[in-house]
Amino acid sequence: MRASAIAHPNVALIKYWGKKDAADNLPAVGSLSLTLGALSTETTVEFDPALTHDVLVLNGHEQPLEQGRLTACMDAFRAFAGCDEFAAVTTVNDFPTGAGLASSASGYAALVTAASAALGMDHRESGLSPGTDLADIARIGSGSAPRSLFGGIALLSIEERGTNCRQLATPAEWPLSVVVAVTTEDKKKITSRDGMAQSRLTSPFYAAWIHDHADDLNAGIRCVEARDFFALAALAEHNCLKMHSVMMTTQPALLYWSPVTLACMHKVMSLRADGVPVFFTVDAGPQLKAVCLPDALANVTAALHDVPGVLRIIAGELGGGASVVRR
Ligand code: DP6
Repeated sequence: MRASAIAHPNVALIKYWGKKDAADNLPAVGSLSLTLGALSTETTVEFDPALTHDVLVLNGHEQPLEQGRLTACMDAFRAFAGCDEFAAVTTVNDFPTGAGLASSASGYAALVTAASAALGMDHRESGLSPGTDLADIARIGSGSAPRSLFGGIALLSIEERGTNCRQLATPAEWPLSVVVAVTTEDKKKITSRDGMAQSRLTSPFYAAWIHDHADDLNAGIRCVEARDFFALAALAEHNCLKMHSVMMTTQPALLYWSPVTLACMHKVMSLRADGVPVFFTVDAGPQLKAVCLPDALANVTAALHDVPGVLRIIAGELGGGASVVRR
């Protein structure tokens, strides 16, 4: 009844921002992401008949406030698995938590992977399918979590009542590198969940963002299939800036960038103008992620390291999918 799993965070190149069904935490649109091998979350789940509620210990501290989200995810898991025991969940991130580095994605991907192993439901015969069953339970915890179940490049599709996730390319099929410029270690003030709910209600650009989204997603899939780096670069930056324009025009405004984020964006754009294969993307926080071809990694790392205000660089290749490490 106990197992541990590791998952990596992911960064979306074609992003989602907004929920179709807030109660069910179902994203409004699909998304396309890279799994970041350089960052990891390890989560242990132990079902225990003595517990009267789920317990979450995150980075060594018990988290009463997170219980609602965790319990919703675990309740879905218990309903699926026919189990009525509560669980002790211990999770550790090797990177800043809640600062725009997708700790909830890796956290919930590791959680459902560990939980299914703890219940012996990860075997082929009795198994929960990662692309449908586990993806659908993981996204109750975090809308971006299903993508961290898969390594390399992942596609999350939204269906009438649920999600479907699959791998578009393994890290070996399209080797890409990601350089994260950490600009703050602080937690963000407004969570993605609250921010996107507010955008849906107040941004005049929200409807246009949803309307155009399928075109961006389909174009993103074509870029991956064709391994067309520079077309993906232009598209991913456009999609990122479109999402941030929805964020900025939300009331009250969601301005997740710091001056350092913006300086990093300019640096990446000027590198690309000089022919370096690199592009940026930014999520709901001030960290900048630069995606590049592996040959450009040293150049991109050095350039972002030199941007004043960048605290540190985390760089690496694409990572694998969530996996069980102990049972
Ligand atoms: C900007 O999936 O982290 O990173 O469901 O509340 O956990 P919750 O939100 P989350 O939001 C991700 C928003 C984003 C874009 C993306 O990853 O597609």
